[in-house]
Amino acid sequence: MPQISQKGKRTPESPIRKLVPYAEIAKKNGVHVHHLNIGQPDIKTPQVALDAVKNNTIEILEYSSSNGSEVYREKLVKYYQQNNIHVNKDHIIVTTGASEALLFTIACITDSHDEIIIPEPFYANYNSFAIAEDVKVVPITSTIEEQFSLPKISDFEKVITKKTKAILICNPGNPTGVVYTKEEIQKLKDLVLKHDLFLIADEVYREFVYDGEKHYSILSESGIDQHAIMIDSTSKRYSMCGARIGCIVSKNSDFLFTIMKMAQARLSPPTYAQIAAEAALETPKSYFTDVVAEYTERRNVLVKELQKIEGVTVFKPKGAFYCIASLPVNDTDHFAQWLLEKFNSNNETLMVAPVSGFYSTKSIGKKQIRIAYVLNKKDLVRAVEILKLALNEYNE
Ligand SMILES: Cc1ncc(COP(=O)(O)O)c(C=O)c1O
Repeated sequence: MPQISQKGKRTPESPIRKLVPYAEIAKKNGVHVHHLNIGQPDIKTPQVALDAVKNNTIEILEYSSSNGSEVYREKLVKYYQQNNIHVNKDHIIVTTGASEALLFTIACITDSHDEIIIPEPFYANYNSFAIAEDVKVVPITSTIEEQFSLPKISDFEKVITKKTKAILICNPGNPTGVVYTKEEIQKLKDLVLKHDLFLIADEVYREFVYDGEKHYSILSESGIDQHAIMIDSTSKRYSMCGARIGCIVSKNSDFLFTIMKMAQARLSPPTYAQIAAEAALETPKSYFTDVVAEYTERRNVLVKELQKIEGVTVFKPKGAFYCIASLPVNDTDHFAQWLLEKFNSNNETLMVAPVSGFYSTKSIGKKQIRIAYVLNKKDLVRAVEILKLALNEYNE
């Protein structure tokens, strides 16, 4: 029988999606499942983006340019300017989501067995992308006790080897909700300059920053043009995950030239979705003011309710729309499955993401779950109530 590759075998299942079959069985049995597991916002996609697709008169759905529609990239330049990121359209390559941007980026800067340092817990798919490209993830653990702030620079220095090619950060962070300060970004800048590494920043949650804090992009820093690579996406910003439009932004011309060869090989990003993404840039500022206000309230309600449960520790996230809670159980993988298979309260249960899959270091994060606060406040309160009842009943 033909054999599957070792890379294929080593690729982990998504901690966000692996419990789906259990959720489906629960639903077939008439149980309502509150989905706290996935970052699929319930916020409406801006109408202007949907209308642009509905109302256009394309007769031939052609390939677009491999680096993405020029008009779209020109408009993106203006959007970035408003966010204190000064680039031109040739610094941008449009991709099929941030996912493709990450795959291409890792492929462009690493060879087999090279290493990328990532503060953990991190977006779980970084692991899968790295394995697919035969790259080793070197984690540095950030902790809930220290509010998931950037680990000490000396911790990074300890693990830098000849094989280290890049440091990858997610800012604002999924799953942690951390927002790195300007000072933290500057420390990383000094580090990558000292060791001549790439600094990749996944900034797909740029807009979702709370309590008056400001997001600080790595591209707002001067002096790291050859090192900085920014990954972006429209998925979360405009609640249009299904459009599959992201981009890579960098000023390093060798890097862009190499990415472009990959972009050409896969031909082009989706045409209709770029039309939607271009129109979405017209979204009024008030949309974001409302969305950020809504997420702030949800976060506040969620954290307040979680803090009422004995034995639960929670860090109040500063950005994105995820919250990590540490539970008084030993294995949240088991607990999360049990919630779907064995538990319900008035025919309702929860689907949460166990956090162990967001760590690269084995056996940590076993007590933690990630909650995506993508439900309305009433449902969030009920969800935490169900969690409390479940914790009382759960017997490991
Ligand atoms: C941190 C982070 N990066 C990248 C992605 C993938 O984004 P896209 O939908 O643009 O592929 C996600 C999706 O949840 C994410 O949370």
